[in-house]
Amino acid sequence: MANADPDFSNRPSSARIYDALLGGNHNFAADREAAQGLLAMIPTAGDMARANRAFLSRAVHYLLDRGVRQFLDIGSGIPTVGNVHEIAQRRIPDARVAYVDIDPVAVAHSNDILKDNPWACAIQADMRFPDAVLDHPQVRRLIDLDQPVGLMLVAMLHFVTEDSAYEAVARLRQALPIGSYLVISHGISDTPADAKEAEVTALYRRTDVSAAHGRTRDQILQFFGDAELVPPGLVWVHEWPDGGDGNANGMAVVAGVAAL
Ligand SMILES: C[S@@+](CC[C@H](N)C(=O)[O-])C[C@H]1O[C@@H](n2cnc3c(N)ncnc32)[C@H](O)[C@@H]1O
Repeated sequence: MANADPDFSNRPSSARIYDALLGGNHNFAADREAAQGLLAMIPTAGDMARANRAFLSRAVHYLLDRGVRQFLDIGSGIPTVGNVHEIAQRRIPDARVAYVDIDPVAVAHSNDILKDNPWACAIQADMRFPDAVLDHPQVRRLIDLDQPVGLMLVAMLHFVTEDSAYEAVARLRQALPIGSYLVISHGISDTPADAKEAEVTALYRRTDVSAAHGRTRDQILQFFGDAELVPPGLVWVHEWPDGGDGNANGMAVVAGVAAL
């Protein structure tokens, strides 16, 4: 990726570190260096990123099978293979997808990819301000909040470390009608990777998100509120149905889907 803007290229971003872990090419030298640093601390980080991305794809298919035709993907990241709109629109050509990310580079790339797509958009917003997301004119144009929505918060809530994250997710849940689903994957804190938390946080402090904290399973379950998780509940991200025979060793991301 060309170093178009010195501010963007010198400071790693969580979106571009993740892109580098996935082997994408929307990242700068500083992002690749940070990704290498992360891999040195957590050698399974790349495996986890790929397993997470595969979960995202399975979850979109699961929601499509249950009649969901619109997706609000918050913390959507740099577009890479298997974006939500690609998966959804392959099956339902006019499925609606609104991508939301705090990272301007991720949003710019998304908009570039989506420029000829009337049923998808990308906006820059911070999920800590959920009403700004819900009331955004582009989100309003595409997403009908009277119809079921797939709310995707995939591998992003561990970057929103404040307790106010719970209020923000509750507000988003409450805005969605029956028939909607909440999809979450999240770094977990009671794993060997957690032993590296101070180092990982120090690495992310240099980025745009400033922190990365796992939560316990109970803390992650709280994001679902009273909504009932579909089977098998909150499990290792590669174990969420039909994920194959992934290896739980070194895994530090769990996933769950709840019907709202
Ligand atoms: C690891 S990426 C996940 C990308 C995608 N959801 C996936 O799972 O493949 C995390 C994304 O969350 C975004 N993010 C972090 N904090 C955010 C916030 N407060 N509001 C919106 N996006 C945020 C980052 O910019 C990054 O693109």
